[in-house]
Amino acid sequence: MSYRVHIENTPYHFTVHLGESVLQAALRANINMPWGCGDGLCGVCMGHIVSGEISYPNGPPMALFEDDAARGQGLFCVGHPLSDLVLNLPEMND
Ligand code: FES
Repeated sequence: MSYRVHIENTPYHFTVHLGESVLQAALRANINMPWGCGDGLCGVCMGHIVSGEISYPNGPPMALFEDDAARGQGLFCVGHPLSDLVLNLPEMND
């Protein structure tokens, strides 16, 4: 099982395989997504989920507050896709 991810306003598309986080898959594809701790603690990888759904297999990450999640924000270092995704990462916008 795998899902496709597109980062809005960029040419980047990549595939996330079962068991991978969005960030792990992006780095495997040599796409330089912003990140820091890699463990859901710092919030550097936070971005907007334009469409699709992600889950957090290790539980809700520390750096994702309820209001962030309610606004459609996600943490991609620990987020695993449940569907194809379109993401918006302000740091990567053209
Ligand atoms: S890289 Fe630190 S929360 Fe994702």
